[in-house]
Amino acid sequence: MKKKYEPLFEPFTFNNGVQLKNKLVVAPITVYDSGSNGELTPTARNFWRDRFRGFGMFIMPFTNVAQSGVGFESPNAIDDANLPTLKEYTQLAHDQGAKIVMQIAHAGYKAKKWMTKGHPVVAPSGDRRGRARSMTGAEVKQMIDNFAHAAELGLKAGMDGVEIQGSNGWLIEQFFAANVNHRTDEWGGSFAARVKFSMAIIDAIDAVRKKYNRPDFIIGYRFSPERPYQGFTMKDTLALVDELVKKPLQYLHISLLGFYSHPRRGANRNLTRMQVYHDRIAGKLPLIGVGSLKTADQILDAYNTGWADLIAVGRAVMLNPDLIDLIKNDHEDQIETKFNWKNAAHYRYTPSMLQAERDHLDLAIHNPRPVRHN
Ligand SMILES: Cc1cc2nc3c(=O)[nH]c(=O)nc-3n(C[C@H](O)[C@H](O)[C@H](O)COP(=O)(O)O)c2cc1C
Repeated sequence: MKKKYEPLFEPFTFNNGVQLKNKLVVAPITVYDSGSNGELTPTARNFWRDRFRGFGMFIMPFTNVAQSGVGFESPNAIDDANLPTLKEYTQLAHDQGAKIVMQIAHAGYKAKKWMTKGHPVVAPSGDRRGRARSMTGAEVKQMIDNFAHAAELGLKAGMDGVEIQGSNGWLIEQFFAANVNHRTDEWGGSFAARVKFSMAIIDAIDAVRKKYNRPDFIIGYRFSPERPYQGFTMKDTLALVDELVKKPLQYLHISLLGFYSHPRRGANRNLTRMQVYHDRIAGKLPLIGVGSLKTADQILDAYNTGWADLIAVGRAVMLNPDLIDLIKNDHEDQIETKFNWKNAAHYRYTPSMLQAERDHLDLAIHNPRPVRHN
């Protein structure tokens, strides 16, 4: 390996003493392929096998905390029946020497009626198109318990922690976004009321790790920087970050398509978003940076900005099941940066991921059509 890459391979220690062997993280990647109860299918298993070799941590993709929140084919952490699958994910990561945190999530109004097995599609507020109805106060409290219970299942399955999915327009962000959340009770209205749902989820998961005396169980939080047309700007998420750093978390993870992207509204547009959050967090928690880092040098340059403590990669891991081996063995010039049908077998994509390539969908933005297994 070239000496310049060495800083990426130095260990990292979280504030609870847990150490990652290096600074490289597999970003959560939904593969749109699961059994009807969130089980690993042969094609999903084939995608994941051997893909974390050399990484410090694997963030398991969007994992449903309740049946009402299922929006695409994805794993479940709903009840004890899911434990064997969650254990299998744990083993997949641990066998390859990576820690695993499970991204716990709920799609809110973006759940699909035909995937919720009769459960109503719910959201902070019902929407005019009738896709979802407003949650009752009791349902909001139950949902917080569902997130905590999912974390408990992860802990029982031997996982190293959870990442709370607070980004990308899913349920937690729906509570945060003022133009989606029209509630007039304690969960809507002021900024403090709109962040109460996320804060309660963090506290409930912290209570789980206290119950099991597992301070080493990692809790991370993912957020999106801003949604110009959906009710919040960077000013709002900077205020959210101010609240998050007071919580017993181990890391923050920003959701970005471009590591070097600039704010649109609510922050200094001359700086990158990464720099703005880095400065605001001021070392209180580590920040995972991500976004279109496709080559070894792009990963290194991003790390060398000093804005991120850990670097996550998504699409580079999809196209290069052996990404870290290539860097370690001086073959970084062989890293693929574009999908090429000639090499499709090498990527080991699931049928839905291949379908998305045929449909020219950018999987980082769009959900593909489901492809049935025969
Ligand atoms: C196929 C695919 C699936 C994804 N699934 C998730 C997911 O389950 N949860 C999530 O937070 N982000 C998800 N993302 C976003 C990635 O984690 C990442 O933030 C994004 O792809 C940018 O990083 P990259 O340029 O390294 O891919 C997904 C992206 C892709 C391409």
